[in-house]
Amino acid sequence: MPNPETSLVQSWQHNAQSWIDAVRQGAIDSRLQVTDQAILLAVLGRQPTRVLDLGCGEGWLLRALAARGIDAVGVDGEATLVDAARAAGAAPVHLASYEQLVAASVDIGRDYDLICANFALLHQDIIPLLSALHALLAPGGALVIQTLHPWAVADGNYQDGWREEHFSGLNGQWQPMPWYFRTLSSWLNALDMAGFTLTSLQEPQHPQSAVPQSLLLVAQ
Ligand SMILES: C[S@@+](CC[C@H](N)C(=O)[O-])C[C@H]1O[C@@H](n2cnc3c(N)ncnc32)[C@H](O)[C@@H]1O
Repeated sequence: MPNPETSLVQSWQHNAQSWIDAVRQGAIDSRLQVTDQAILLAVLGRQPTRVLDLGCGEGWLLRALAARGIDAVGVDGEATLVDAARAAGAAPVHLASYEQLVAASVDIGRDYDLICANFALLHQDIIPLLSALHALLAPGGALVIQTLHPWAVADGNYQDGWREEHFSGLNGQWQPMPWYFRTLSSWLNALDMAGFTLTSLQEPQHPQSAVPQSLLLVAQ
């Protein structure tokens, strides 16, 4: 059986153009209705001057931050997405894998007063990456993570483990993406193990939805 971490990275190579189209055409309802605004407000509310967007994808959040005068820098491991982010905005965007960030083998700047990760922590062993991000933050800096809400997507199986996303309902040629489901306590433990202290937990929710659209964690 292929290694899910490898398949995860390969799925982004395969899905890059479909993802760019889906995000830029506003095809993902939960983003339009709830989660885009949730991460933007969580970041802006901290009044950062210098932000790193981890796993920035095609760069919509970089553009939204730059439009508000914030010095935003992106990093992503997928070349087509990085090219698209660079072409669509003025923010510097680094092409680097999370493995390279953990190994500190690339220079993506440091002393960020905020690092955000919007639906970008999808692999299993996130603690080394979180520790590496910790080292890139300025003293007192914050990490803002938005992710799938574990209770909303548990589907009767509330245990850490690999799941598969099929992007059903979206136009385009999609390859299934393995992603690692983690429970709420698993998220909090990972932050703790990486040296972070949780300062805020939000559950962004559409008023007409029975379940939250995401889990938003802020840690310092
Ligand atoms: C669901 S997309 C989110 C993109 C963006 N944050 C957004 O909100 O539109 C996940 C992103 O994580 C990136 N990613 C996943 N695993 C990665 C890895 N091991 N190294 C670097 N980037 C990775 C993908 O390339 C992809 O751009």
